[in-house]
Parts: sequence; C-alpha cells; structure tokens
Amino acid sequence: MGGDLIITGGVPLNGTVRIPAAKNSVLPLLAASLLCSGTVRLLAVPQLADVDTSLVLLRGAGCAARWQGSDITVQSMPSVCRLEPEAAAQMRASILFCAPLLARLGRVETVLPGGCRIGARPIDLHLSGLARMGAHCREEGTRLILTAPAGLHGADITLGFPSVGATETLLLAAVCAQGETVLRGAAREPEIVDLQNFLNAMGGKVAGAGTDVIEIEGVKELRGVSYRPMKDRIEAGTFLFAAAACGGEVEVTGVAPENIRLLLHKLRENGCKIHAKNDKINIESRGKLKCNRRIETMPFPGFPTDLQAQATALNASCTGCALIVENLFETRFKYVPELQKMGADIEVKGRTAFVRGVGKLHGASVTAGDLRGGA
Ligand code: UD1
Repeated sequence: MGGDLIITGGVPLNGTVRIPAAKNSVLPLLAASLLCSGTVRLLAVPQLADVDTSLVLLRGAGCAARWQGSDITVQSMPSVCRLEPEAAAQMRASILFCAPLLARLGRVETVLPGGCRIGARPIDLHLSGLARMGAHCREEGTRLILTAPAGLHGADITLGFPSVGATETLLLAAVCAQGETVLRGAAREPEIVDLQNFLNAMGGKVAGAGTDVIEIEGVKELRGVSYRPMKDRIEAGTFLFAAAACGGEVEVTGVAPENIRLLLHKLRENGCKIHAKNDKINIESRGKLKCNRRIETMPFPGFPTDLQAQATALNASCTGCALIVENLFETRFKYVPELQKMGADIEVKGRTAFVRGVGKLHGASVTAGDLRGGA
C-alpha cells in the first residue's frame, strides 16, 4: 500500500549522511518571499509535501512559484489576498503566509491552520502581536480575516512565550512596516537567524535574531535574492539517534554542532562516542547503551521537542530508566502505544514519560501519527 515502509532491523548503520535544507527554515523563507519585489531563488530545497503545499499557497496568492531541479524560484507579485483553503488547512505553517500578504495587500483571509496533531497549538501570540502593529483580526467559524487598512506600523512587542511561529510572523510583519519594531521574548531557534539572514540579504534591516530581543527597522521594499537555506538540525539529530540505537559508525555532515549541542551531550551520556568539528559530526555506538536520567524539552537552546520521540525510542532500547518531559506540546506522546507494540516499556502520565529500557525492541506493524513520532 502507498505510504508503507518495510524495515528489516537488527543491523548496524554505517556510512555518511549529507543533511538537506531544514523544512522549518524553508517554509518561513517561502512565506518571506511574498514580501519581495523581484525573484527569489532558494537553492537545494528538499522535495517535501509541506514545501509543495507552500508552493500551492504562493501560486494561489498570484505568484509564479516553481521547481527548477532542486531549486525553487518565486516571482513574487501577490494579488490575491486569500490563502487557498485546502492547502492552508493542511499545514500549520500556512499561518506564516498571512503576515506578508497582510503587509503587501492590506488584507488576508485564511482558514485556521492544521498540521501534525500534537496538541492545541493556538495562534493567539501571532494575532495579538499583529494587532499591536495595526491589524484587525476577525474569526468567522474556521475562517480568519486580517485587515490593516492603514498599513502595518512598528511596535514594541513582548511575547509571553518564545513561540517560533509567532516570532517569524512578527518578523515578517515588521520588516516592511512603517517605523521600528522591537520584539522581546523572541524565540532563539537557529531557523530565526536564518530568516533574519534571508531578509537582510533582500535588503531588510533586522538585528538580534538568536537572542531574545530582535530589532527591525521597516524598509520600503525588499529585492530578489538567491539563497541557500540552513541545514536541518532535527533531521541530523534523527540520524544520530538512529545510529545510536542500531549501533555502528555514522558521519552526519552539513549541520553546525552548536545547533544540536545538548543532543550531543545526551548521546554521550548514553555511552556513544561523538566527535564534532566544523559541520561534521561522527557518532560511534557500540554495545549496550545506558538510559539518560532525564530529558526535558524546552525552547532553543534547550532540548528540541522535535527530537523528543526519537530520544524516547532510543531510551526504550537502552538499559536503565529515563524520564522524558514534554513541555512544548501537551499531547506529543501519541507514538508511545506504537513503540509499546515493539516491546517498549513506557508509562505516560500527563507531560512525562517513564521509560524502562528493555535493551532491545522487536518488529511490529505500527502507524505513524505525526512526522517526528513516525521517524
Ligand atoms: C515550530 C516548528 C515545529 C516545532 C515547534 C517548537 C515550524 C514549521 N514548526 O512550530 O516543528 O515543534 O516550532 O520548536 O517551524 N503557542 C501559543 N500561542 C501561539 C503560538 C504558540 O500558545 O500563538 C504555543 C504552542 O501551542 C506550543 C508552543 O507555543 O505549545 C510552541 O509553539 P511554537 O513555538 O509556536 O511552534 P510552531 O511555530 O507551531
């Protein structure tokens, strides 16, 4: 059946993996391309469903967006202030396409975003920030209508929680707004730094990404650019966990070790040998690994929620006990019953999973409910 994977386990993993561009960077960059008057070229983009959904959103807004080999070109000339509803509903990141359209056209209409089912995932921080910049927000059933008849203006905004998406939305709203915006309590994820670099390469004036205060001086116009998005630290982490769990020697290239420092520390705690230099990370995993005592997901530079499922899977096949605490998304343990079918001994109470390592898992027929849990 389409979408099924058949995996024969029990063999060590050996070799080199070159990590592709980060989905969580490419999606906001594609949204940002709506702000530019000219052509944006994103280099070496992975062909993922969410990327294609983003192209549908761009085309629906009146832009020419297409693949050229593994690059994407976007001729940005948005004329339609409505996001294609089916595509918008498919992907939570569709919310990122709203602020640029609002900035350029003064109005945008969308349906409330979908995405992996990993908890409530509200958008209140996006909307209250936009309101501070002069937007009016109206919800009608599942429809969301944003207007800014007098255009967007700069503001001093403090986020109550460092939401990645809200930081990106407000950055996108501010870059061409009238005046200066200060965004406090911003998310510090590397993908925010990539977005800043991209916007500045187009002529934006953004500083401070990577810290919790971002300052944006609004500019009149952004120009076209050719840009190579950052590599996927979550995918790199996923391969490192796979190598750790299966044993063997794997080299992961393309990702800066400082973007996954805590993960490397946790893998060393398991008993893996890690050697990291420049953009190369080597992992060697031999024999029985020990559980981590505790892993707790946090906004960057804490342990990423997008690697929580992979960490639990590894710990399930180690020896000892681990506590895994999920602080970002309340229902992100939905994959646990699937791991239990493979022999894992895990008990979930609220936001905490108690893992008793069983040393080795066995094959089973399982279902992937969300992207990272599936991995
Ligand atoms: C992004 C990533 C996702 C990752 C997550 C956390 C993309 C496309 N997706 O998702 O892979 O798991 O960061 O690192 O980059 N929240 C609110 N109100 C808001 C916005 C968020 O309460 O307005 C809450 C969410 O419900 C959640 C937490 O903040 O509990 C984190 O969400 P956020 O950082 O916004 O994640 P996303 O941007 O959706």
